[in-house]
Amino acid sequence: MTEPAPKVQPAEPCVLVIFGASGDLAQRKLIPALYNLHRNGFLPERFAVIGVSGSTLTDEQFLGRVKESVERHCADCSDLGFISTAGHRFHYVAGRIEAPETYARLKERLDAVHAEHGTRGNTVVYLATPPDHFATIAEGLKAAGIAKHGTNGSGWTRLIVEKPFGRDLESARELNGRLLACFDESQIYRIDHYLGKETVQNLLAFRFLNGIFEPIWNRNFIDHVQITVAERLGVENRGRYYDASGALRDIVQNHVFQVLCLIAMEPPSSLANEEVRNEKLKVLRAMRRPQGEELLRNAIRGQYGPGAIDGETVTGYREEAHVAPESATDTFAALRLDVDNWRWAGVPFYVRTGKRLPARSTQIVIQFRQAPLPLVPMETMQHANRLTIQVAPEERMQLRFQAKQPGPGMRLKQVEMAFSYRDLGGDGLATGYETLLHDCMIGERMLFLRADMVEEAWDVLTPVLDLWQALPPRDFPNYAAGTWGPASADELLARDGRHWIEPAP
Ligand code: BG6
Repeated sequence: MTEPAPKVQPAEPCVLVIFGASGDLAQRKLIPALYNLHRNGFLPERFAVIGVSGSTLTDEQFLGRVKESVERHCADCSDLGFISTAGHRFHYVAGRIEAPETYARLKERLDAVHAEHGTRGNTVVYLATPPDHFATIAEGLKAAGIAKHGTNGSGWTRLIVEKPFGRDLESARELNGRLLACFDESQIYRIDHYLGKETVQNLLAFRFLNGIFEPIWNRNFIDHVQITVAERLGVENRGRYYDASGALRDIVQNHVFQVLCLIAMEPPSSLANEEVRNEKLKVLRAMRRPQGEELLRNAIRGQYGPGAIDGETVTGYREEAHVAPESATDTFAALRLDVDNWRWAGVPFYVRTGKRLPARSTQIVIQFRQAPLPLVPMETMQHANRLTIQVAPEERMQLRFQAKQPGPGMRLKQVEMAFSYRDLGGDGLATGYETLLHDCMIGERMLFLRADMVEEAWDVLTPVLDLWQALPPRDFPNYAAGTWGPASADELLARDGRHWIEPAP
């Protein structure tokens, strides 16, 4: 018998203002996410969008782009109802980010759109622009009277901020300071799109809404944890951004740390916003900040040279567009991290991420300890239990254990119990941004990052960033495109008598 699904809280009427509306993120993710929300009945009936960007577009031209984006990026784009039945839902304001008039015009338009659509003054502002514009926009919104709750009648105003949130601790603090001078922390929704992925959210359900896993989720039963975020793609057309960022900043500080927090956190006393975020912050605080020799051994960096992916020759990182020919930017990072608390003392967390690796795969491996007493010759039972949580390309979980093979004698075989998210349906919610947008519309902040979490995550990485800056790499490029990173990443685990678990095929 299927359980009745708990009701999803309906989103409140609101206007979504997208800064960077003609950019890549809006076109590839945000508009398709709105469409998916609409198709699944999660958008409020009274809802409108105002796109803002530097491109000169009319409302009609913007609407054309919205349609194009749905047609290009949504699997089933047959239901364009949310565009056609209320064509006036999409509005556009052209203007430069630095110009105060842009915000004055936006305010005027916003008031008119609220009045037209009955959206009660509720406003979500999404910053889908390059990060150096975030603070300027917040200040422009404040000056125009858009930042405060209640300025648009009686409604609320919420600000969604994309990553990257700063490029180190100092710049993150500065950005937080400037945003907090314009908005209250409760209005700021710092996004990490990994937290919108079903399998990542499912970590909370898996660990804390089942009774059997939590008792074994600690140093007594777990040998180590691995988190891999592997991409086949290179830097595409993002060379300019990426060359000033690198793998550590682009993936580890945010996506990998958020996943690690969900794996390592203590059970919260409820799933309320702050309870979960407080527990995640404690994990970041407990993460070791190694120095000296330990740091040198535990932080591995790499950069891809020319190679082949799927039999096709690809160029090296330094030959990509907008990348410096002598670039010292890391396109690969592998770290051993330690969470120094009672639950995890002595359990390493190995994390790695890289561009131009042989497979696209995001996976978490919980490697359990070997059974305490070998009842058969040790060589026949070399495999300890393992839980693999795959976030991409498939969303699924597999628990590996040993079983007796049919027939005489105690011959063992590796078998798996598997769960695939596909079996639960929900394929309509595909970009990962749907949940996050909907959560923001209902004022649910659990999946967003608080200022202190972002700063703590930068603090953990500061020793690594300082070290890498002080000692420029001498061996870059040190892995060929299409391979699993530099040899030193394998040595990192081999030193501890372990090896990386390759992604499940
Ligand atoms: C982004 C990074 O945050 O995440 C990109 O800036 C990366 O470099 C992307 O490609 C990966 O996201 P996903 O959802 O495809 O795993």
